[in-house]
Amino acid sequence: MTHENTLRSSRWFAREGKDGFIYRAWLKKQGIPAYELEGKPIIGICNTWSELTPCNSHFRDLAEAVKRGILEAGGYPLEFPVMSLGETLMKPTAMLFRNLVSMDVEESIRANPLDGVVLLCGCDKTTPALVMGACSVNLPTIVVSGGPMLTGQHRGQRIGTSDIWRFSEAVRAGHMTSEELLLAESGMCRSDGHCAVMGTASTMACMVEAVGLSLPQNAAIPAPDTARKVLAQQSGVTIVQMVRQNRRLSDILTREAFENAIRVNAAIGGSTNFVIHLLAIAGRIGVPLSLQDMDTFSAGIPLLANLQPSGSFFMEDLYYAGGLPAVIHALLSHLHTNCLTVNGQTIGYNYANAPSYNKEVITTIDAPFNTLSGIVVLQGNICENGAVIKPSAASTHLMQHTGKAVVFEDIDDYKRRIDDPALEVDENSVLVLKNAGPIGYPGMPEVGNLGLPAKLLAQGITDMVRISDGRMSGTGFGTVVLHISPEAAAGGTLALLRDGDMITLDVPRRRLHAELSLEEIARRQQQWQPTWQAAPRGYVQLYQQQVEQAHLGADLRFLKGNSGSEVTRDSH
Ligand code: FES
Repeated sequence: MTHENTLRSSRWFAREGKDGFIYRAWLKKQGIPAYELEGKPIIGICNTWSELTPCNSHFRDLAEAVKRGILEAGGYPLEFPVMSLGETLMKPTAMLFRNLVSMDVEESIRANPLDGVVLLCGCDKTTPALVMGACSVNLPTIVVSGGPMLTGQHRGQRIGTSDIWRFSEAVRAGHMTSEELLLAESGMCRSDGHCAVMGTASTMACMVEAVGLSLPQNAAIPAPDTARKVLAQQSGVTIVQMVRQNRRLSDILTREAFENAIRVNAAIGGSTNFVIHLLAIAGRIGVPLSLQDMDTFSAGIPLLANLQPSGSFFMEDLYYAGGLPAVIHALLSHLHTNCLTVNGQTIGYNYANAPSYNKEVITTIDAPFNTLSGIVVLQGNICENGAVIKPSAASTHLMQHTGKAVVFEDIDDYKRRIDDPALEVDENSVLVLKNAGPIGYPGMPEVGNLGLPAKLLAQGITDMVRISDGRMSGTGFGTVVLHISPEAAAGGTLALLRDGDMITLDVPRRRLHAELSLEEIARRQQQWQPTWQAAPRGYVQLYQQQVEQAHLGADLRFLKGNSGSEVTRDSH
């Protein structure tokens, strides 16, 4: 048990004289009675609420539920804001700012009189950004996710974010009118919450539950379901217990916990963004984890959750079918069951009794929806440090494919020419996008699932091999190779590709290869001139100078690791 005098916050509130006076008096101005600051665990609620992050717009309510739990357990809550990341609105891409937010979170926690932290996470990047920042401090920490939206509705059809890509292609192919697209827009987002499919937000919510950073059922309870607030209140109770028992992030985020997360991600058909965020989180907490681990530990894990974009259903359906606990339960024989979780129990204990109530949504390991799952890591002369593909979202007939490259120097070049009737492209071509990586764009946007040329869409073609150094929305799908490292802007072979080069994708053999001799590559390297723009100042300049490549998690070099939670020197 932690004695009240050993609480970190006692370095502020148990002080005598001028310093203690200042610390307490200014908090009391919010109407806080003196006894609330006497020996109680002070819990920070790190809130990413913002009207500019629509997925997190209900977080003020959620924070109130967390506060009730903290008070109930004898702690005292202090809510604080950090920069929020709205995936749909931020330009050039929310990913550019993930590391910036992690700095905000880290320094806000360390600088303040906090004994434990509740992270309110929702829209895609808010989860990794907050977890990364908290890892660099390593206090007792729990995640409460905002929960997914209710399933969208359009003309009797259930729709979700993955349908945006289908609708957009249907309009370009002339199969859907712009008026109908506008109607669908109004039925997409029916409630509070983040994207209703197994996109990046849901993937990250599943990740935190799989590694033990949240209470069971955190991942899938819909945002408007009253059970979400119950879970938030229980999480408030739990964080106070975690402080009293000094259960820190590093006790939970072990190498085995990361391996569990990779396996669970395979079973749910999680987003490729999982890769880049998990690597970055491991880098902060100091657990060795490599890109290759993503392939190694997801190999042999079949798809157990039938969720879009890999399957048919929505997050709401996952919850009604038993939630992530039912998936983890089905997978227990493949997991490290002794991993510790926030409630002090192990994964094996928490998920021992979690049946699936709907086998169409959550199946068993013996009768999976797809034996192809997880993340495949590709190697070859186009990606010396690796690239990734998500087989469950790809087309079987393209998993082994050789075709001529149609090269776009950047996303603007692609937009200018993709629908040009004169573009030399057919369904066997390989679309190549350069300069969409961390440095080149900058920020590694979700543009990798390039829309197909309109003339091929009109012929009924629905998928082609596409390769890039960018990312893909977790809601996206297709035979899409992503995260090529080194990126084009860093002078990788991707930068040297030209129209007509023969490119081979061989997923079973983990290979992505351009038929170019070493001499030809060397010749092109000598002629290569970088085309990306360096930012003249500010955070973006720092980002471009410091960002690591995708295979390392795209964190900033100087942010890796952690600095602990020592209370720094006083200035009074
Ligand atoms: Fe926020 Fe999809 S846009 S989760």
